[in-house]
Amino acid sequence: MSRNIKIAPSILAADFAKLGEEVGAISTAGADYIHLDVMDGHFVPNISFGPSVIKSLRPWSDKLFDVHLMIAPVDPFIDAFAEAGADIITFHPEAGPHGHRTAQAIRAAGCKVGVSINPGTPVSVVEPFMGDIDLVLVMTVNPGFGGQRFIEGQLSKIETLRQWIDASGRDIDLEVDGGINFDTAPKAIAAGADVLVAGTATFTGGRSAYADNIARLRSGT
Ligand code: DX5
Ligand code: ZN
Repeated sequence: MSRNIKIAPSILAADFAKLGEEVGAISTAGADYIHLDVMDGHFVPNISFGPSVIKSLRPWSDKLFDVHLMIAPVDPFIDAFAEAGADIITFHPEAGPHGHRTAQAIRAAGCKVGVSINPGTPVSVVEPFMGDIDLVLVMTVNPGFGGQRFIEGQLSKIETLRQWIDASGRDIDLEVDGGINFDTAPKAIAAGADVLVAGTATFTGGRSAYADNIARLRSGT
């Protein structure tokens, strides 16, 4: 359990009128990645923001920009997100039938490749991608909104993926997203996650609380 735990605040829970300042504040407060949730009102029942907002945020942080695409189709937008400053681009195989083409396009655009699965998607869907990815994102809520309740039954997927990643010998982040708080973070860490996305739990309590929130999530206490 001496794994290095990274915290990736989701700015979905930030003050949208002050997004640049918010990204600066979480970077100073100890965030490892900045988690950017892109929603299209089609793949998920909500709309958030796109590449132009991400480009505007880029000067506010030197942390890795972890872009979670909840959009369909994916491929026509990859270059725009890469040019906006994405470091990692994560897509959902549920969004289309040609996932490896998407993975190759993300790599060709100069970004790290992530694959994410919805709660209703079996972990076996990740297996064909294991040789081509840098990150696996297990959704522990149905994507679309912050502030939802953690689905405990997803923990077994994290345990399986931890075994696959360790067996592969490859450097693959195992990220968990949705309903992460001070109660559920220790469970995700115990199951094998090493990157925790946290929107509500990071941004609760105002800016003076961000550093404590991030430290507590990381320590799993
Ligand atoms: C949900 C997003 C999450 C969300 C997490 O579709 O992918 O990143 O912002 O929010 P919390 O941490 O509040 O559950
Ligand atoms: Zn997300």
